[in-house]
Amino acid sequence: MEAKEAAKFFKKDMVVGASGFTPAGYPKSVPLALAERGEKGEDLGLTIITGASVGDELDGALSRAGVLKRRYPYQTNKNSRNGINDGSIQYADMHLSHVPQWVKSGFFGNIDIALVEAVAIREDGGIIPSTSIGNSNVFVEKADKVIVEINTSQPLSLEGVHDIYSPENPPNRKPIPLTKTNERIGTDYIPCDPDKIVAIVISDIKDKTRPVAPIDDISKQMAKHLIKFLEKEVEKERLPENLLPLQSGVGSVANAVLGGLVDSNFENLTIYSEVIQDSALDLLDSGKVTFASGTSLTVSPERLDDFYENFDKYKDRVLLRPQEISNNPEVIRRLGIIAMNTAIEVDIYGNVNSTNIMGSKMMNGIGGSGDFTRNAYLSIFTTQSIAKNGDVSSIVPMVSHHDHTEHDVHVIVTEQGVADLRGLSPKERAIEIIDNCAHPEYKEQLLEYLNGSYEICASKHTPHSIDKSLSWHKKFLDSGTMKK
Ligand code: COA
Repeated sequence: MEAKEAAKFFKKDMVVGASGFTPAGYPKSVPLALAERGEKGEDLGLTIITGASVGDELDGALSRAGVLKRRYPYQTNKNSRNGINDGSIQYADMHLSHVPQWVKSGFFGNIDIALVEAVAIREDGGIIPSTSIGNSNVFVEKADKVIVEINTSQPLSLEGVHDIYSPENPPNRKPIPLTKTNERIGTDYIPCDPDKIVAIVISDIKDKTRPVAPIDDISKQMAKHLIKFLEKEVEKERLPENLLPLQSGVGSVANAVLGGLVDSNFENLTIYSEVIQDSALDLLDSGKVTFASGTSLTVSPERLDDFYENFDKYKDRVLLRPQEISNNPEVIRRLGIIAMNTAIEVDIYGNVNSTNIMGSKMMNGIGGSGDFTRNAYLSIFTTQSIAKNGDVSSIVPMVSHHDHTEHDVHVIVTEQGVADLRGLSPKERAIEIIDNCAHPEYKEQLLEYLNGSYEICASKHTPHSIDKSLSWHKKFLDSGTMKK
């Protein structure tokens, strides 16, 4: 049916589970038709749950039309970010691995409609997803009604690249039988009762991914430090020669860091991550990576056409799994993942803020970074040592918002160097971070803070001077730097 007709199934205050993980594999035509209803003044007030961030046709259009009332679990869209920060959209930022259990257990309430993009539907109702899986299998299982957008721009050769497996609920849950990145444990389609499918809409709108920023010298420097660090770990026999499966976060720095591995001496690498992005495809092209497992294929606009036409060449070396499996702590711990994520700011004791600018303005969300960081064999955070053209230090006395605690952060990398925090006490960590990662312009101020705190604190395990740590951020706010 036409998207406009399918959009009529949506009623006020419904809870919708939509496909999509990073701007890949999300529904497009039906959300645009829903936005039209909002623009005409209808008050729909929908709750939208996805895998992770989605493209503008969903988050952007629905936010601008005032249709989006609640949003879980992650977003990167300018309009939804504005709505979240001005309070018109209620947003709970959550670990991506928690979402499928919450849907299965009804913590979000009943799922009224599952809206999923696919490349095909089997005769038995089985849905063959497109470029991502995210939570689609769980939405389809739990929703009252299912609407499928068949996207004809997506390559049909995606059939066979998915591996759908859904653990039982406790107390009947069994170990997930996955011991290698390339193992298949499920079906290559999402099982679906055909009677639940109330609409099939044909669309040809391509995934609207973001262009990847060119890799700058600073990112290259970070990649160089990180690779040298990993080489040393191999020398010390703390990592095998082909390392352990790699997870890489989102953003330009993360892309640059993975990209740096193309020119490294490492061979036979594997990836066990969420997002398979351009740099992962480069690693597959160069033969450095032999296999990549994720939950989405997020290809930049520049190489999307080539990817669509030549997807066959990757088919045997790529697998997409539900995020309940790609981000599963049990599997991450078993495989021994090297997790590489990006921080907004890091404090001198190793705590990380990756979501809230100046402690209050939501950027994107924690995404899968916590799923991987907490459970990784080696957990690494990268960040440039300064932000806002040097007006702000990304190494701070105390993070203004807390996503990853000192207990989960093993290594910090900036363009200045590497701080290896494993086994260090708080004071040792502070010195290691200031010495190796802080920008020279801020080192003295950070040392002053550290020493000052030691002098005034009666208890000296993790000394802080609360008023001074607050004034550290306050001076950036007062100077107007954060408005630039
Ligand atoms: N203080 C204040 N602002 C800062 C800052 C700091 N220390 N560091 C960065 N920023 C600002 C930048 O200036 C930029 O602002 P702008 O949008 O106004 O230009 C913004 O934060 C983003 O910074 P940028 O350097 O462009 O980030 P990125 O593309 O490398 O992304 C994260 C970095 C942390 C936002 C991103 O990786 C993220 O969302 N991480 C959380 C989710 C995650 O890790 N998922 C991984 C599992 S897939």
